[in-house]
Amino acid sequence: MPDSALTRRCLITGATSGLGRAMAVQLARRGNRIAITGRREQLLRELEAELSDIGAHAPSRGSAGEGRIGDEPMIIALPGCVDDLQCVAAHYARIREQWGGLDLAILNAGVGGSGDARAFDASAYAATFAVNFHGVCHWLEQIIPDMVAQGGGVIAGVSSPGGWRGFPGAGPYCASKAALSTMLESTRIELRGCGVHVVDVCPGYVKSEMTAGNDPRRMPFLLETEVGAARILRGIEARKRIVHFPRRLTWPLRHVIARLPGWLFDPLAAHYGKP
Ligand SMILES: NC(=O)c1ccc[n+]([C@@H]2O[C@H](COP(=O)([O-])OP(=O)(O)OC[C@H]3O[C@@H](n4cnc5c(N)ncnc54)[C@H](OP(=O)(O)O)[C@@H]3O)[C@@H](O)[C@H]2O)c1
Repeated sequence: MPDSALTRRCLITGATSGLGRAMAVQLARRGNRIAITGRREQLLRELEAELSDIGAHAPSRGSAGEGRIGDEPMIIALPGCVDDLQCVAAHYARIREQWGGLDLAILNAGVGGSGDARAFDASAYAATFAVNFHGVCHWLEQIIPDMVAQGGGVIAGVSSPGGWRGFPGAGPYCASKAALSTMLESTRIELRGCGVHVVDVCPGYVKSEMTAGNDPRRMPFLLETEVGAARILRGIEARKRIVHFPRRLTWPLRHVIARLPGWLFDPLAAHYGKP
């Protein structure tokens, strides 16, 4: 993957496990500078050490903008929560101080959110939105002005096909990802002409901590974490507007299930997706 496409100063939120961790490793192998975030500091420090080691031996390190950024660190580990605006502002201040800004931001941190409307729990919605939606907004507020000022950058928000319809049993998750995808679309259009590209990433089922407890029979075409991470990075490289995979799952979801009239969708979803 050429440095021109997946550029040099990268941020990955939610890098302590799953897709975020795997993307960080794959970007480090290409010699990129990477800022990583997550709440579990021990895991973050372990990843920092691993990425530093990988980066030191990456063949493309010499082409990754060494002259431009000088001796600044290849890896910046930023422990903390995306749902805390002050924390995110402090994290970005550190990145700005070290690197002057970002070329690629993968806003990946997320949590699952299940629910059953028969015992409607507003706090479950608030907690899920705090990470999956507001966590992304917090980062966008920091990074967009600098990307616009520098006239370039790529922002990828990791959403989900779960946001394409209100699937039962996962109301908070579906609603938060629907809000995220819609916000990313507005943002992409508003940033047209600024040189900043916005990607909406909607992976199918991928092995991770989030999916570890799910029944595998209810996760068709489940992908290995590294495969999912590579598919996301490839989609970002191709400057797609929406990255969704595997197609054998997401194409029928996007073009058939998401378009079914309510009179047909409701009984089908109630039958197959009981909370
Ligand atoms: N796996 C799938 O099948 C799938 C499908 C569609 C979309 N996605 C999306 O992909 C993204 C990554 O999920 P994953 O599957 O890789 O799950 P995961 O292994 O559980 O990773 C989630 C990451 O988010 C971080 N995180 C959670 N809450 C946070 C907070 N408040 N502040 C900062 N970081 C936080 C976690 O780190 P800490 O716990 O250390 O904070 C962790 O690194 C999520 O947005 C998810 O919705 C996943």
